[in-house]
Amino acid sequence: MKISKAVFPVGGLGKRFFPITRAIPKEMLGIIDKPLIHYAFEEAVDAGIEEFIFVTRHGKYSIEDYFDFMSAHAKYFNIKMGSVCYVRQNEPLGLGHAVLCAKNLIGSEPFAVISADDYILGESCVGEMITHYDGSNMVAAMNVARSEVSKYGILDVERETDRLVIAKSVDEKPSVGTAKSTYGIVGRYILSHKIFDVLSDLAPGVGGEIQLTDALLKMIPICGLTGFKFAGKRFDCGSKEGLLSAILHVASGDDKLNCVVENFYKDRK
Ligand code: G1P
Repeated sequence: MKISKAVFPVGGLGKRFFPITRAIPKEMLGIIDKPLIHYAFEEAVDAGIEEFIFVTRHGKYSIEDYFDFMSAHAKYFNIKMGSVCYVRQNEPLGLGHAVLCAKNLIGSEPFAVISADDYILGESCVGEMITHYDGSNMVAAMNVARSEVSKYGILDVERETDRLVIAKSVDEKPSVGTAKSTYGIVGRYILSHKIFDVLSDLAPGVGGEIQLTDALLKMIPICGLTGFKFAGKRFDCGSKEGLLSAILHVASGDDKLNCVVENFYKDRK
């Protein structure tokens, strides 16, 4: 199925990176020389996305500046920019609310949601999901450490195949004791447009926010929920540990920078 639109929720406060995110959007934090949002955008382009919708807010203007620059230098970046547009999320009311803000730009087709916090190296995760998309709401899923389940939406597994996890339920940030599995949702989604009706009626959930996971749960009887086991390597760049790992990983694979990483470890011995 052709999926041509992707929503990038970039309105979050980035509290885990205060104080730098008081002045710089967390999506503009860099892995060496490119901001996180650049990698998320490239992943979408590789998946064949043609319309890029950023849900932005006060203080995030540098994302718009960055994509103005990318558009002007698309040839240099060897990237097909498609159409880029912005919609505002006036209050940080959660991921579900951010997605709802894009409603008028989506229409009646399935669409992708991409969180730049999750940097996925390797094959385009959204591209793989589109290839396997079957009309159910689909989320990228991976096994996480049991001690970490309360950071994720966690799937309750009905059955699974090599690449798919068919969920009978889903729970946003459960406690270690109540989590039904260790399959955590990673920030990639292919969603039915019908989710907007559910989101507009949704009461705040965990943390007082409108949770996308709660809307996915309500839609299971309507269209099901499938977790997709993606091939790439994921870094949680919404955390300092994850961002540092991603930087080290990219630097280690770079001809000019790998010696810096090696020397750092040698010097410490
Ligand atoms: C959000 C979602 C959560 C998901 C996570 C993936 O949480 O609500 O279900 O597992 O992204 O990164 P956040 O990290 O924004 O708190």
